[in-house]
Amino acid sequence: MKTTVVSPANIAFIKYWGLLDPQIFLPANGSLSMNLDSCVTTVTVDFLEQGDEDLVEVGYHGQDFVKFSPEGADAKKKLLFDHIQRIKDLAGESRAIYIRSQNNFPASAGIASSASAFSAITYALVAFYKLEPYLSDRKELSKLIRLGGSVSAMRSSHDGFVECVYGKDHDGCYSNQLADETYWDLVDIVAVVSAETKKVSSSQGHSLTSSSPFYESRLSHVPERLEKIKTAIENKDFSKLGEYIEEDAVSMHSVMMTSKPAIFYWTPETMEVIHAIREWRESGEVESYFTIDAGANVHVIAQGKDAQNLEDMLNALPGVKFTILNHPSKGARISDNHLF
Ligand code: PMV
Repeated sequence: MKTTVVSPANIAFIKYWGLLDPQIFLPANGSLSMNLDSCVTTVTVDFLEQGDEDLVEVGYHGQDFVKFSPEGADAKKKLLFDHIQRIKDLAGESRAIYIRSQNNFPASAGIASSASAFSAITYALVAFYKLEPYLSDRKELSKLIRLGGSVSAMRSSHDGFVECVYGKDHDGCYSNQLADETYWDLVDIVAVVSAETKKVSSSQGHSLTSSSPFYESRLSHVPERLEKIKTAIENKDFSKLGEYIEEDAVSMHSVMMTSKPAIFYWTPETMEVIHAIREWRESGEVESYFTIDAGANVHVIAQGKDAQNLEDMLNALPGVKFTILNHPSKGARISDNHLF
């Protein structure tokens, strides 16, 4: 039966950067994130009516659906086709299928679209084939998502605030829900400063980590920071949470900037937003904190009560093109809103 799944993207408070085992995509460190309700991917799956080859069509916000093909595809797209085959093999199914995937947020916004996409496609296929234990066990689902090639996508499998547990083998590395989406009224306002596609993909970046002299140092600090941020979440201590979020983002970007070749995702506009939110914080105007993924755009983490005011302030900065306001969200879930 035709099956549709909606999955959110997420913003990491503690980032994953670099792989311990690139064969089964074991991350070199644990991570922690919040799901984003305004940045979702919807995926519909059914058997293909005519033809023997799987058909995958992808639609970005405001654009027509385009056919994806494994030939000449970039690394992440190739991984996607391998992943579809992996799940068909697990289900013992060979009949061709039709997959449509749509993002509700602009592709140019530089928001981890691979997280929502890999999580949505995996869960949609699992639900379509009624594949246990993945269908009813989110921990098992997260491990299957990881094999698809996107570690950050593991964290979109559960609701709300989610940890990706560090482990040295397949069974030891999974995601775990810390609190659901109703737990804490936080927001992530994405300040979009660049519409350009990033020049260095996260997959390339992960493979360069060990060339940075600061990488081992970062890895030695992450476990303690992860514990401290979990305590801040438990205590709903926003100031501590923000302090660790910024610390971790800067630590990851230091590794990026000192990799060989060096990766600079930040632009002058990124710095403009960083300076502004530090200034507003120090002057007592509004308390918010920045974090940045593998791109130039700034995720501004704040408390719900300040969202409207802060969004207006961010939009008034010359370097900000537009903003996307996110609240904590449920993870991947079944939906009736089929794409075909
Ligand atoms: O899961 P990937 O390969 O898309 O890498 C994600 C890396 C960061 O977004 C920079 C950090 C994170 O943990 O989400």
